[in-house]
Amino acid sequence: MTPDELKSLVRAIPDFPKPGIQFRDVTTLLADPAGLKAVIDGLAAIARPVDADLVVGIEARGFILGAALAVALGTGFVPVRKAGKLPGKTVGIDYVLEYGTDRLEIHAGQVPVGARAILVDDLIATGGTALAAAQLLREQGAAVEMALFAIDLPELGGMNALKADGVAASALMD
Ligand code: PRP
Ligand code: ADE
Repeated sequence: MTPDELKSLVRAIPDFPKPGIQFRDVTTLLADPAGLKAVIDGLAAIARPVDADLVVGIEARGFILGAALAVALGTGFVPVRKAGKLPGKTVGIDYVLEYGTDRLEIHAGQVPVGARAILVDDLIATGGTALAAAQLLREQGAAVEMALFAIDLPELGGMNALKADGVAASALMD
């Protein structure tokens, strides 16, 4: 499937969650059998040469793609969640949003020192979420070998910010 064919399966919903935002809804892509397979095959083809030992997915839609990618690569999967959702002892990172701050957490001990991790999310916009998740993994002693996304919104600069932070990053479509 070409990037344009993949893109045609992603629905754009105007003014969600706020006026002026064109929300890129991947649920239509996930619901399409050929589209879902093409996304996971595409991400796995980029990830396989890195030979990572862990996939880390960012809440919420990064869980769906990340878990499927982990199965394709034969690795385990670790979720990065918004604050207060994980039941066990956590380690976390606060990060700055356009207005205010937010916090991401993982279960303590679930990313081993020396792990070679691939970070996954459905979409990168400003990159704030992925940069914070990458920093959290590094603070655990892991190496972020690559960050992968289904969609890049290039006008928001996230991919460049991630690369400037030393993280190899790719997306399947814009
Ligand atoms: C979306 C998307 C990324 C993030 C990207 O998540 O899934 O996680 O925004 O934005 P950024 O590059 O500007 O940080 P959202 O905030 O909608 O959370 P959700 O997946 O939990 O609904
Ligand atoms: N996260 C940040 N911007 C987004 C957008 N336009 N669509 C979906 N998720 C997003």
